[in-house]
Amino acid sequence: MGIDLKAALRGGAVGIALALSACGGSGDASPVEETCEGEACAEASTGGTTDPVASTGDAAEGSSSGGEAPAGDVPCEVAAILSAHCGECHADSPAFGAPMSLVDIEDFRVPAITEPARAVAELTLERVDDTERPMPPDGGLSDEDKAVLTGWIDAGMPPHEGAACEDEPDAPDQPTGPDALPCEPAAEFHAFADGAPSEPFVVPDVDDLYMCFVFDSPFGDITQGTAWAPDIDDERVVHHWLLLKTDNPDYVPGTAFPCGNDVTLETQMLMGWAPGTHNFVMPEEAGLELPAPGERVVLQIHYNNTAGYDDALDQSGVALCTTEEPRPNLASTLWLGTTEIEVPPGERVTTTGNCNTGVRATEPFKMLLSWPHMHEFGEAIRTEIIRDGTGEPQMLTEVPEWNFENQIYYPYEPAIDVTPGDILRTSCDFYNDTDQTVTFGEGTGDEMCFDFALVYPITAFDIDNPFGPPELGRYCVGLGGSGFP
Ligand code: HEC
Repeated sequence: MGIDLKAALRGGAVGIALALSACGGSGDASPVEETCEGEACAEASTGGTTDPVASTGDAAEGSSSGGEAPAGDVPCEVAAILSAHCGECHADSPAFGAPMSLVDIEDFRVPAITEPARAVAELTLERVDDTERPMPPDGGLSDEDKAVLTGWIDAGMPPHEGAACEDEPDAPDQPTGPDALPCEPAAEFHAFADGAPSEPFVVPDVDDLYMCFVFDSPFGDITQGTAWAPDIDDERVVHHWLLLKTDNPDYVPGTAFPCGNDVTLETQMLMGWAPGTHNFVMPEEAGLELPAPGERVVLQIHYNNTAGYDDALDQSGVALCTTEEPRPNLASTLWLGTTEIEVPPGERVTTTGNCNTGVRATEPFKMLLSWPHMHEFGEAIRTEIIRDGTGEPQMLTEVPEWNFENQIYYPYEPAIDVTPGDILRTSCDFYNDTDQTVTFGEGTGDEMCFDFALVYPITAFDIDNPFGPPELGRYCVGLGGSGFP
């Protein structure tokens, strides 16, 4: 059984399209704040979301047209929802692949860029209720907020009346970007033009382009990562990115090529970014495992140039602090979930994998974050912890509305303490709308049910791993709802 699984796991590509973002919550602080002045600004930035790339400062050309807001102002309760749940991407200067602004009434009246026959308002009604491709992409709009927004549109989008809206207090600023790191970055990986690493990548006019940019590993044998920061360049078109490592020779350093959102299983995730993700600083006692000399680093960026910008040049990437004095604990990816998946045609099935840490872990460990992963038949995924294998399951991470195009990463603050004997249970809900049975595999017609957890010390799992070499990450993949063998 172990051998089969190993073959299955190593055989193909694993669809890894994890969009990483802060915990699904509303963002904090609006990009608008950076770019406008005066009263109109105060109104436009109601509620505030944090511009995750504030410190890169180039919120780009379109920046706010400033003063003339009042005429087309939306009512305060609508403005608050737009600011908190849409503003991060649909601000005055749309960002992160969003094709348009959603700030004043006119923004809702104009024809949609993707469907000029229909108004943006009409698409908004559709997308806030769309279970496949919800807006906001994390599906995080409450029923109350949805009712306010759709009620306003249905009522013909009446303008704001009366006194200026009150600002909601800004969420505490989470400084983001290389300048906000508590250390001097030792390595940087940025998008580049194929064959010309110092030239920016020219982002073509397409949707859902996944590009791979390949680098030689610049790290030594004992180098560990201690902190990292996203460095987002043309934020109009960057949807999310992942930094991966691989020893697969098909990835040639200095090349940049469209790689789809599947990367082979010889690839392991190191870190990632999506709107809302901030700098990450490892706890003092732990360092991130990095690619060895001779391995490759792959920066995979998901671009969305739906708006068709013809001047989109991008050098987005990541800056990384490292240490040559290894910290006491090595942090790396632990695979949770199951490969035993069978969803008959037309059926809904929940698959569960139990990671029995009593069998698999030699010492207590900490979980820093979860990156759930399924393919397109996935509807929901969650990871729970069952203390001592017997207690009530406690929810650690729950994704109630799975969206393949926008996979989210969930930091644990504080980190979760796991004691050998605790069970980590990952459950996936699938719905198969085809006439073929869906099973585990790498293709889009196949399914996966994984939670890639960042844990330390990863050495707690260096025992008799039947599923592959430790460089690929360690497995605690439960089978068929039973415990790990
Ligand atoms: C994290 C970024 C993000 C947030 C937050 C977000 N959107 Fe979007 N939105 C996008 C991206 C990227 C697209 C283009 C891709 C797509 O259509 O899914 C988009 C597309 C749309 C479209 C379709 C436009 C078209 O022409 O097809 C609508 C409508 C929309 N968003 C409305 C909203 C509303 C309303 C909110 C808040 C309640 C919201 N969005 C929040 C990123 C975001």
